[in-house]
Amino acid sequence: MKAPIIIGEKLTIDEHQGALVDLQRLAGIGTLTAGVAHEITNPINVITATCNNLLGQIADDNLDTDELLHYIEMIDQSAWRCARLIRTLRNYSYLNGQEFVSRDLNLIVEAALILISYELERQYNLTIETELEKNLEPINCDQNRITQVLINLMVNARDAMAETGGVMSIVTWSIPDENAQGISISDTGSGIDPEVMPTMFEPFVTTKPMGLGTGLGLAIVSQIVEDHHGRITAENCPEGGASFTIILPCHQPNEVIVNRN
Ligand SMILES: Nc1ncnc2c1ncn2[C@@H]1O[C@H](COP(=O)(O)OP(=O)(O)OP(=O)(O)O)[C@@H](O)[C@H]1O
Ligand SMILES: [Mg+2]
Repeated sequence: MKAPIIIGEKLTIDEHQGALVDLQRLAGIGTLTAGVAHEITNPINVITATCNNLLGQIADDNLDTDELLHYIEMIDQSAWRCARLIRTLRNYSYLNGQEFVSRDLNLIVEAALILISYELERQYNLTIETELEKNLEPINCDQNRITQVLINLMVNARDAMAETGGVMSIVTWSIPDENAQGISISDTGSGIDPEVMPTMFEPFVTTKPMGLGTGLGLAIVSQIVEDHHGRITAENCPEGGASFTIILPCHQPNEVIVNRN
C-alpha cells in the first residue's frame, strides 16, 4: 500500500497525479452510491415480499417443499445481488494507491456497469448494449483505475445523449498478435465537437457549462491508460455519436504476478 499523502508535503509529479486520480474517483462515488442504493431496493423488496408470503403460507399450513425451496432460492438470489452491489461499490472506494493485479477485463466492464447502469438506464432512459468476447485471458492492470476509466467514458457518453436518449455500446476483444486487449465505448449522442477533438485529452478542456464539467475526465483517462502502457483513440462515428477505443497490453513490463480475489 502506498504511503498516505500529507498535505503540505512536497510531492513529486507522479504523486500529484496519483492523488488527483484518487480524488476524482472519490468525488464521483457519491453519485454512484445513490444509484447503487436505488438498485438495492429491488432485491430487498423481493426478500421482504417473499418472507411475507412464506410466513402467510406457514400460518395457513399450506406450504409444500417445492414452494418452500422456490421461496428460499428467491431470497438467496436477492441477498446475493445486494451483497454484490455493495461489494462492488466498496471495492471501488478503496484507496490502495496504484495496484496491478491479474484481472478479467469483462468483469471490470461488469463492475463499472453495476455501479452506473441504474443511472444511465433508469434516470437517463439510455439503452446499454454489450458485446464482450468470451474467455479473454486475464490482463495485468489496476482494476479500480480501469473501472474509473470506463466510468469516465460512460459518464461522457451519458452527457452526450442526455437530451436525445440513445444507445451506449461496450465491446471487448482480444488482439493476440499484440498480446493485448481492446475495449470500445460508443454512443449515439451529439458527437465530439471538432474544435475540442485535438485538445480534449488535456486537463480543463470542456464544452460543458460551468459546474457541470471540470474537463478532467479524459485527462485522467489518458493518464491511467498511459500508466498501463496502453493507448486510447477517439473518433466520431459516420452514423453519429462518438467512439473511444482503448488498447491495453495483457502484461506490464517488470510485472509481478499477484492473484487476488
Ligand atoms: N462521448 C462524447 N461525446 C461527445 N463529446 C465528448 C464525449 N466525450 C468527451 N467529449 C467532449 O470532450 C470534452 C472533455 O471531456 P472530459 O471528460 O475531459 O471533461 P468533461 O466531461 O467536460 O468534464 P468532467 O469529465 O471533468 O466532468 C467534453 O466536454 C466534451 O465536449
Ligand atoms: Mg467527462
